[in-house]
Amino acid sequence: MRLFFALWPSPETAQALAAWAAEVQRACGGRAVETPNIHLTLAFLGDADPDKASAAARRVSGTSFELPITIGKYWKHNRIVWVGPQEMPSALGQLAERLQLELFRDGFILDRRPFAAHITLLRKAARPQVLPELPPLAWPAREFVLVSSTPANSGSRYEIIERFPLR
Ligand code: 2AM
Repeated sequence: MRLFFALWPSPETAQALAAWAAEVQRACGGRAVETPNIHLTLAFLGDADPDKASAAARRVSGTSFELPITIGKYWKHNRIVWVGPQEMPSALGQLAERLQLELFRDGFILDRRPFAAHITLLRKAARPQVLPELPPLAWPAREFVLVSSTPANSGSRYEIIERFPLR
C-alpha cells in the first residue's frame, strides 16, 4: 500500500485553494489537484505497512498550530504551482522532524532532502508571469493523518486511514 502522512485542510479551505489554482490554470495550464485531494505532505513512505506506520506515528506528540498560507510559487524543476507558509511555523518543523525520526527508528527509508512545506495545486504547468494574490485562508492544524494513495484515471485516489490528534 502506498502511504504518506499529511495535514489536510477543511473543505472550505480546500475550495478556496482550488479557486485560486483555477485562476492560475487559466494563464498557465497544467493539471489541477482535485479539491478533495489538496494536502500538505509531512512524510512520504511509498509502499509500506500501514500498521507499522501507524505505530511510529502514535509515538509522536505534536502541538496544534495555525498554518499560514502566505506564498504561492512555481518550481520549474518539476513544473508545479504550490502554496505554503512563507515562514515555517516551528510546530510544523518539529512535527515533521519528530515524525520522520520515529519512522526512521522503525526502519522506514525516507527522502533525505530537507522537509519543504508545500501544498501542490497544479502539476505540469507552464511558468506563470505573476501569481494572483492569495485570499485569506484559515488552516488550523489540529491533527495529522495517514493516507493511502492508489492510482486512478485522473491522478491518484487518496483515502485517510488514520488520524493522529495534535495537543
Ligand atoms: P508533491 O505534491 O510535491 O508531488 C502524495 O504523492 C504526496 O506525497 C504528494 O504531496 C507528493 O508531493 C508527496 N511525495 C513526496 N515524495 C514523493 C515521491 N517520491 N513520490 C510521490 N509522491 C511524493
